[in-house]
Parts: sequence; structure tokens; C-alpha cells
Amino acid sequence: ISNDNQSVLSAYEWLTKLYHHLLRYAKDGKEGYQYFNDRGISDEAIDIFQLGYAPNLKDFTAEFLNKKGFNQAILVKAGLLSLQDDNSVTDRFRGRVIFPIRNNVGKTIGFGGRTISGGEPKYLNSAESELFQKSKLLYNFDLAKKHIRKENEVILFEGYMDVISAYQADIKNVIATLGTSLTEGQAKLLKRYVDTVIICYDGDKAGLEATYKAANLLRKVGCQIKVANLEDNMDPDNFIKMHGGEAFNNEIIQASDTYISFYMRYLMKDYNLSLEGDRINYIEAIVKELAMIESSVEREYYLQQLSKEYNISIETLASEIERHRQHKG
Ligand code: GTP
Ligand code: MN
Ligand code: MN
Ligand code: MN
Ligand code: MN
Repeated sequence: ISNDNQSVLSAYEWLTKLYHHLLRYAKDGKEGYQYFNDRGISDEAIDIFQLGYAPNLKDFTAEFLNKKGFNQAILVKAGLLSLQDDNSVTDRFRGRVIFPIRNNVGKTIGFGGRTISGGEPKYLNSAESELFQKSKLLYNFDLAKKHIRKENEVILFEGYMDVISAYQADIKNVIATLGTSLTEGQAKLLKRYVDTVIICYDGDKAGLEATYKAANLLRKVGCQIKVANLEDNMDPDNFIKMHGGEAFNNEIIQASDTYISFYMRYLMKDYNLSLEGDRINYIEAIVKELAMIESSVEREYYLQQLSKEYNISIETLASEIERHRQHKG
């Protein structure tokens, strides 16, 4: 690790403590504390996740780091400070609550900052750098690791708040990507620790599409997957706030769909199932997918389900599946 990166790590460590201290104990951080309070985040969770507040000031952070003797050019390059047109520097995070993003050994290497006043963007992250690469990181992986190993299952969320809510509700094998789609690198990392990934994205159109992509990537690297099914406009954090952690575990996590059940639900959006032609195409698409399942027991199970639901004889479906199985490469 280079001296510059060492310096950036040290700056992050100072700032994590500073922002957290402000939020927790200072007048300057009261708004931030109030924000998390209103969202039902406990003091304990605030401490565990080192949540903080960056005051709405132009150069509060710049001054602080300057006094500590940090080199400004390095901090700008790391995306902790922003360079203005006139070459002066300003704080990157202003008037935002701060989610420190930790690497696998628990060191802060970036921040996510959320507006608390409805400003844009909703979340601002540290700039990409050698140290902070969103495509390689998983939020909370350091704390979740031992729980993931123990359960041999991991729950994958979209957002920081989903992770914190679940963790606070004692569901601790939880991680999230950092506002980007799951990458192959992240999928491979998970595969090293766990057999089953439960994808639990937001119950909206974006969440559904992202689930489809993540599911196939995870299958490609050899993970078993399950897919949670949240109703529209619901995300895991909302659900836990409304119904509690136990309901979340019982009604959402334990009730997760298998891949093929998810796929049946997912594909429906492309078809109008009240039209005969669409219905046939839909069934044909599902059959193609069923043909790729290696376990005959599993194939049979879904075949029965499809047969019942669309009133097609098992024999017809079975021979279609056979046909596809013989054709597959
Ligand atoms: P809350 O509104 O605080 O509950 O956030 P959320 O986690 O439910 O947000 P959402 O489902 O919209 O987004 C999921 C994740 O995507 C967030 O946790 C962020 O990591 C990321 N994200 C959301 N909005 C933005 C944005 O405007 N910019 C960037 N860079 N990332 C975002
Ligand atoms: Mn979302
Ligand atoms: Mn969300
Ligand atoms: Mn949310
Ligand atoms: Mn409900």
C-alpha cells in the first residue's frame, strides 16, 4: 500500500470518528441524529455502523484535515474534497448523513452521504479511486462474514438502510451493493463464502430487473439462489419498519421463491396472459427454462405446477421438455 493510500486511509479514519461524534454528541450534528431517529435507527446501530453527519459548511472538513497536516492534493484525488474552478477546495459531503463504507477488514475506505433535506442526488458516494472501487465492495461484508458462514446463506439487499434495518432486527447475514448492479467479481467473492444467496431487492420495476441480472450472474458462478418477493413500492427497510424483523424473516426470507418460480413471475411482465397466443408463448418460454434444470425431481415439480395452472396435460409438457433437453448444446 502506497504512502498516499496510507494517508487517505488515515483521513477516512479521522473523518469517520469526527462525523460520528458530531452526529452522536454535538449540536452541529443534531439534524443528522434526528434524521436517523425518525427512521427508527437505534443508538446502538448508529454506533455499530459508525453513522455520522457532515455539517452543511463549505470547508469544515478541509480545515479539519488541513490542521491534521494532510496533503490536500491527495485528498482531492481520493475524492474526499472537491476542487473548485478557482482551485480552492471545498468539502464533498455537506449537510448529509454519512454511511462509512468499510473494506473486508473493517477499515473505512469510502463514504455514502444521504441528503436529509430532499436535495439531489439522494446519495452521494466517495469518488472511485484505487482504494474505493464500488464494483469490488459489498457493504457490511466485514461484519456479516461470520454470520454468512454460520447460516451458509447471505441476504443481498440494494441499500445501506436495508442492511442497517435488518442488522438492527437481529438478521445479520446481510450485505448490499453500493448502488450499482452486482458484478461478477462480487458474485465470485460471495461464492467463496456461501452456497445460497437470497436476493432481496426493492419491490419495484428496477428491483425486478436488477434481480433477474443478479440471479443469472450468481447462478453462473455456481451459487444457489432464492428470490424474496416484496410487494410493489416496498423495500426491506420499509417492510421491517412496518412489520418487524420476525415477520420479515418468516414472510419474506423464509418464503423466498426458487429461481424458476421467480422466473415465472418475472416473465409475466412481457406477456398478456389473457391472450391465447401470449399464453402459449409464455408457457413455451417457461418450458425452455425448465428443460435446463438438471434435477428431474425439481423439473417434475414445476411441470405439475405449470400443468395445473394452465390446464395443459403433464404428458404434453413433459414431451416438450424432453424435446428441449435433447436439443440443448
Ligand atoms: P432510502 O431512501 O434512504 O431508504 O434509500 P434506499 O436504500 O431505499 O435507496 P434506493 O432503493 O433508491 O437505492 C438503493 C441504493 O442505491 C442506495 O442505498 C444507494 O447506495 C444507491 N443510490 C440511491 N440513490 C442514489 C443516487 O442518487 N446516487 C448514487 N450514486 N447512488 C444512489
Ligand atoms: Mn431501489
Ligand atoms: Mn430502497
Ligand atoms: Mn429505502
Ligand atoms: Mn403489508
